[in-house]
Amino acid sequence: MEERLQKIRDEALKAIPEIKSQEEWEALRIKYLGRKGILPELLKQMGSLPAELRPRIGQLANAVKKEIETALNTRQVRVPSGRQAAPKTDITLPGRFIPPGKLHPITQITSEVCDIFERLGFAMAEGPDVELDYYNFEALNIPRDHPARDMQDTFYISENVLLRTHTSPIQVRTMERQRPPLRIIAPGKVYRCDSDITHTPMFHQVEGFMVDKGVSFADLKGLLTIFVHQIFDEQTSLRFRPSFFPFTEPSAEIDILCVICRGSGCRVCSQTGWLEVMGAGMVDPEVFRMVGYDPEEVTGLAFGMGIERIAMLKYGIDDIRLFYENNLRFLKQF
Ligand code: DAH
Repeated sequence: MEERLQKIRDEALKAIPEIKSQEEWEALRIKYLGRKGILPELLKQMGSLPAELRPRIGQLANAVKKEIETALNTRQVRVPSGRQAAPKTDITLPGRFIPPGKLHPITQITSEVCDIFERLGFAMAEGPDVELDYYNFEALNIPRDHPARDMQDTFYISENVLLRTHTSPIQVRTMERQRPPLRIIAPGKVYRCDSDITHTPMFHQVEGFMVDKGVSFADLKGLLTIFVHQIFDEQTSLRFRPSFFPFTEPSAEIDILCVICRGSGCRVCSQTGWLEVMGAGMVDPEVFRMVGYDPEEVTGLAFGMGIERIAMLKYGIDDIRLFYENNLRFLKQF
């Protein structure tokens, strides 16, 4: 037994310095020390030895086991893995800087607008970018030959399918699915065949509407005043100017006091002191009839605004195209 132990030890200590890879190291470890390895198997036979020999042989077996373990562990430090050619990692080097990302200014303003209305009890809704002519126009009281279709240069995909020109079709889609009372705020991309320093073929709008018994123009004024005060500031007054949209009656355009000159007249407000920020009005009874609501029972208010326009006024940006050039020096400012 003693001899066999010595032989195992000599063999192992000769083999260990020859190890060239992690796999070889692991194979040797299993061969000598594994659960069914040479040493554990030998130790199992201790029971059959005469009692007076057991302590000495036991001690020797444990010493051999320790020696092999130590040899293996020392070897492991020098052969960390099979990929010996890999360069050493210098853990004292400083880490690589990963610049943090940020939300795009349009995304930021969109959530700011929606947050304000959500706090006022409005729920978020969405609709498809590729829309049916029916929802984008027809159901909003804009029939095929209506001159109001000229207000929006439409990208048609086919006779009845188009890229939505505004977020107003979400009004119709929501009303078709739900019964009043409703309070909805709906952001989204919209598309118009138009391009210059204040227009891009794709831009963003947020649509808001509310339908219930007894909703009045006073509610519209109150809501939009709260909104303007929160998104700009309390000093930004607003005015309602009579206008026309086929889906609202009466209709209004909302101007805010020029955020640049505060009313005294400048280039941004074309010397008027006012800036147009959105369209709004009371839902036209014709739109209610299209979705099966009874205009004698409920009334509604609606408004729609361009997000880029709000962002440009809030941050004093004079070219809308900056939002889409992905220039980091521009984007980092927000
Ligand atoms: N959809 C209109 C546009 O894109 C904006 C608008 C005007 C939305 C009046 C409304 C509204 O909800 O009531 O120009």
